[in-house]
Order: sequence, then structure tokens, then C-alpha cells
Amino acid sequence: MTGIRHAGKAVCDRDVVNRLVASWFGRKDSADNCFKDWTDVTHPFAPSSELADSLLPFSVPPTSDGSHDLSHLMRVWKAAFQIQATEGGNVEILGAAVLLHDCVAIEKSDPRRAEASALAADRAAGVLRDLNWPAGDIAAVCHAIICHSFSAGQAPQTIEAKILQDADRLDAIGAIGAARCFYTAGRMGSGLYDPNDPGAAQRPLDDRAFALDHFKAKLLTLSQGFQTATGADLAQQRHDRLQRFLDDFLSEI
Ligand SMILES: [Fe+2]
Repeated sequence: MTGIRHAGKAVCDRDVVNRLVASWFGRKDSADNCFKDWTDVTHPFAPSSELADSLLPFSVPPTSDGSHDLSHLMRVWKAAFQIQATEGGNVEILGAAVLLHDCVAIEKSDPRRAEASALAADRAAGVLRDLNWPAGDIAAVCHAIICHSFSAGQAPQTIEAKILQDADRLDAIGAIGAARCFYTAGRMGSGLYDPNDPGAAQRPLDDRAFALDHFKAKLLTLSQGFQTATGADLAQQRHDRLQRFLDDFLSEI
């Protein structure tokens, strides 16, 4: 990956970052230990650690949502650059879009949920302007952020936007997708499944009431909508895992 053109314009306060990282992990360590954690945490973003240095303080807003925390950001980063390695795309635009794509926290049950990606893009634009990014690059990052969400209903036009959408969507399927589904259902007070008809054979799907219904209602449909060939290949592998999990789950009840 190349060097970061915009780095050095507004370097973040490392103490602030250390405190952020400590709070993400719920730790109350000493400053020295926090620094060690920060070093470990930035490692997954290497060799774009300079970009991560400048944007991580804005990446994960204060939230108790463990399905949109730092670990989600790391997984999306890993998937995005796995796809970028074969599909191409500008490393800085993609990296910034990944780091800021969930920088505004809107819960699934919040009526503003459909606006979440637009709100994140607005905030990202402000962050990047403060870091003296060129207007064209900011627009490219914002386009990717807006389009990554299903609810925004906007088709990605650039390779960076297509990769971000694919990378974020990969985190909704496979083993991780199943875990995030049940986690989110728990936060919303939903049941695991309908004991009278777990597979919804003779009733409409209701994924607000039952976590397992979300597999058929959404998760098992996601692999069809990927934007890149590399993303689609990865999605098919995770789709198969998800289907196996559903089959195993139903066989145990
Ligand atoms: Fe995300």
C-alpha cells in the first residue's frame, strides 16, 4: 500500500486514542498498557497505520452495540482489502471509507436507521475536510459510505464503493453473520425461534419476533447481491456456512 498523502496535516492525540481503545475494550489499564493495546489494535490496519492513526478516533462512536464495534471495523477492513487485492481500487479512498463507514451509530430499531449511511457520510466529510483532504477524494469516500447500506437504496458507482458494500455485507453472512444475528436479536428482545414452527413452514416470517426467521427473511438472500466477482465468491462460501448452520440448528430442536 502506498503512503498517505494527507497524513501529518492533523495528527490525532495518541493519549486520546489510547483512552478510546481502552474504552472500546472496557479496560481501565494504565496508560502504558493502553499504549500497548493501541499498538496491537492498529496492527490489523498495517501498513495503512498512518491512515488509521488519523481516522480511528472518529471511526467507532460511543455505543454498546457489539455488532458495530471495533471488531466489525477490523473484519470489514480485512475483507475489503482481500477484495481490493484482486479487484483494484484506490487504497486511501477505500481505507478511509472503511474506517468511517459506521462513524454515526443508529440502532436498528431507530426510525432514522435508513438515514444512517447519509449521516455517516456527512460526518466523514467534516472529518476529512479538517484533515485537508481534497474535495474530490472526500466526495469519493462519501459516495462509498452512502452506498454501503441497503436502506440507503443507492447503487455504488465506483470500485471503492462496490468493495465497501461487499465487505460490509460479508460480515452479515457466514459464521460471523449468524453470531451477529443472534446478538442483535437479543438486544431487541426477540426469541431464538418459534417453538411451534421453527422453520416458518406454515406461517409468515417474523424476524422481529424470532431471530431464526431473519435467516430466510434476509441473510440467505444476501449472497445474490454482491457487486464484485471476488466478493461474490467469498459470499457464496459464507452463504453455504449459513445454510449449514440453519440446517444443523433445525436438526437439534
Ligand atoms: Fe458496517
